[in-house]
Amino acid sequence: MMTNKGLALVQRDASGVDLAFRGDVLEGLSASPKAIPARWLYDDAGSQLFEDITRLPEYYPTRAETEILQTRAAEFADLIGPGRAVVEFGSGSSVKTPLLLSAIEPASYVPLDIAGDFLRAAAADLAQKFPGLPVHPVEVDFMRRVELPEEVADQPKLGFFPGSTIGNMVARTAVDLLRSMRETLYRENEGGTGAQLLIGMDLIKDEDVLVAAYDDAAGVTAEFNCNLVRRINRELEGDIPLDKLRHEARWNDDYARIEMHLVAQEAIGFTVSGEAFGMEKGETIHTENSHKFNRRTSNMLLLAGGWEPVRRWLDAEERFSMILAEARPPRSAP
Ligand code: AVJ
Repeated sequence: MMTNKGLALVQRDASGVDLAFRGDVLEGLSASPKAIPARWLYDDAGSQLFEDITRLPEYYPTRAETEILQTRAAEFADLIGPGRAVVEFGSGSSVKTPLLLSAIEPASYVPLDIAGDFLRAAAADLAQKFPGLPVHPVEVDFMRRVELPEEVADQPKLGFFPGSTIGNMVARTAVDLLRSMRETLYRENEGGTGAQLLIGMDLIKDEDVLVAAYDDAAGVTAEFNCNLVRRINRELEGDIPLDKLRHEARWNDDYARIEMHLVAQEAIGFTVSGEAFGMEKGETIHTENSHKFNRRTSNMLLLAGGWEPVRRWLDAEERFSMILAEARPPRSAP
């Protein structure tokens, strides 16, 4: 069973240029240091390259998180219980979502995604795997509060946000998202059961292991990073010399994050959408952050976003965490 309320969300100019993409790229290349929001890495080619990354020997997060979902089904069933609407932030991945859904006997499944094509494909796939489960995809930007379908209004909610996607955001944005999720999933004064959130957060670990996960020997992550430049050159009439840029994964210890950069190997000049830019030798374009957490920092982030951690699971090698948190009625006690 599947319902959908579709809308087109991307705004384009007369020649088909994505206006938000052009705005972000021109602003990011004009800034110092240069930085482009990571969401633009994920066009069709970029999403396919990320799929390839998840199978690399160095990239442990996907396997570690899947292991947690596979081995903790009984505990999920116990702590989450049946009858919830599972609201997934991002289209369901082929493996993780079915593991969760089979563990807990949900009342419905509500995937949220801004990319309508992926969303409908993932929702149809899920509906087929779980005949009888009501599936209500919503094409929407989940960074803001989402109006959920009427059909799930009376069901208690479980938010699902795997993949350590929260780690892509700087703390302020992550807190904004967690607070929006709380507003989406939980109406205060409504009484009844509180909302829950099951969220994946990658762990701080040895720097060499982290850097290797984002700079693999086969060069797939380098391709993923360079694909952004290909996209700019193709969609925004750019002439950025890709052969003069090199992929770099850096550990930023103050911010506990891996940063992806594109480093100029020599001084270069180029144009994008008719605007001229230059880079000095060694200057970089910062393209992605991937924040890593420990027990205290993940708890602190969740609490700042209005979610109380109730349980935390690690994979056997202790590389990755999944946390179950709850939105509860506010209390005046300290
Ligand atoms: C999809 C954001 C979780 O940060 O690990 C992987 C993206 N970038 N390798 C991550 C990514 C380079 C990934 N997330």
